[in-house]
Amino acid sequence: MRLRNIPGARETIAASEYVVHEDVMREKKGKWDTVLEKAQPLYLEVGMGKGRFITELAGRNPENNYVGIEKYSSVLLRALEKRELLPELTNLRYLRMDAEDLPEVFGEGEVSGIYLNFSDPWPKDRHAKRRLPSRQFLARYAQILTPEGRVEFKTDNRPLFDFALEEAEAAGWKLLVCTFDLHQDEDLMRDNIMTEYEERFSSIGNPICKMVICR
Ligand SMILES: C[S@@+](CC[C@H](N)C(=O)[O-])C[C@H]1O[C@@H](n2cnc3c(N)ncnc32)[C@H](O)[C@@H]1O
Repeated sequence: MRLRNIPGARETIAASEYVVHEDVMREKKGKWDTVLEKAQPLYLEVGMGKGRFITELAGRNPENNYVGIEKYSSVLLRALEKRELLPELTNLRYLRMDAEDLPEVFGEGEVSGIYLNFSDPWPKDRHAKRRLPSRQFLARYAQILTPEGRVEFKTDNRPLFDFALEEAEAAGWKLLVCTFDLHQDEDLMRDNIMTEYEERFSSIGNPICKMVICR
């Protein structure tokens, strides 16, 4: 998702107390407990888009810390607009960064879980390594996750989901949960939080796939 360039987006982000800025984010490696108010398990959403999922998740789980990661300022700005309405949420921060740099920003074993929701499909084969569930990204996640840390991935894009299953198997990850029609699964739906993309694609009848993997 790339919104049109929004004038002032970079300045608004630079002024936000909820964003950990590019000039200091690498200094926080291994010390994210000190950035958030409480020392508690840390979860990331990579490619959070406009932020509905992680905002809701952080509100439901005050016993965890959350960091939403997004590459584009114009998109992050939309997440910040939601965040401004919820000043009581003390367990959520944002980073504008490319997920390729995750191991430079988070320490070994510092992250308890990673959420990937409706990641960009990058359909051309030569772009496969840009897909967030690719083996190259799984290797980055492995560097920062706790030994039991999980990656949860949702998408309506079946070829991307099949690719993710193959990549996880090739990289030696264990498949803990797998459904090709999440919205028909009563158990998995109990805690499900709809992302902006999930709402859009499920409303036109696309089945939503979900997998949970760990090493
Ligand atoms: C298709 S959107 C999905 C947004 C949201 N997760 C949802 O489900 O509604 C994918 C988002 O991932 C972001 N993204 C893609 N590659 C990324 C990367 N390497 N690092 C950080 N964000 C990335 C895009 O900018 C975009 O906002």
